[in-house]
Amino acid sequence: MKTVVLHGSPRRNGNSDTLALHFLNGLSAGGENEVRHFYLNDMNVRPCQGCLSCETSPSHSCAIVDDMQEIYSAYIDADLIVWATPMYWGYMTAQLKTVLDRMEALAWRGFENKTFAVFLTYRHHVESTVGFFKRIAPHFGIKLHIVTCRTMEDGKDVPVTSFPDKLEEAYELGKNLGASKHDT
Ligand SMILES: Cc1cc2nc3c(=O)[nH]c(=O)nc-3n(C[C@H](O)[C@H](O)[C@H](O)COP(=O)(O)O)c2cc1C
Repeated sequence: MKTVVLHGSPRRNGNSDTLALHFLNGLSAGGENEVRHFYLNDMNVRPCQGCLSCETSPSHSCAIVDDMQEIYSAYIDADLIVWATPMYWGYMTAQLKTVLDRMEALAWRGFENKTFAVFLTYRHHVESTVGFFKRIAPHFGIKLHIVTCRTMEDGKDVPVTSFPDKLEEAYELGKNLGASKHDT
């Protein structure tokens, strides 16, 4: 299975990365996988300029040439897209939202028929991002799986590793997806 991991947090190996890592461990227990990681905070991806080239050009391609080109080709090639992000001010991080906006070019061709595994960590609120994925999934024929973890207890931040049930949930999801893909 070809997998793309979009790391939305600027904190490498932070909470959302850790959930995604447990998922990937489960996935590899289910069989061989080709995994490409994109640490978005370290990449040069410019915000969408709203020029609508992706709508109007025959190739539906984005007019901006930057590191997003790597993500476009990896995304199109992949079966499984992993979205890992903390909530920042009620939504995914700016790093991930910037990539998502640039995926408008894929919305015309290539975004559809993937499996999404979404890992969201948060203090208070996760519904807006959960709602976004749930809203688009049926439209694009996406098989959607979401694991969320509240990384706050008694008013204090706590690491995701304090919630072994959540790490297990991520691992089991990976294992099941890996096994089901290799069965078919
Ligand atoms: C700038 C900033 C904004 C945040 N905004 C929210 C928010 O709106 N809602 C929320 O539930 N948590 C918010 N958080 C908390 C993070 O989502 C939470 O600590 C998360 O587990 C961090 O994950 P990470 O280690 O993968 O970066 C915010 C954290 C930061 C640094």
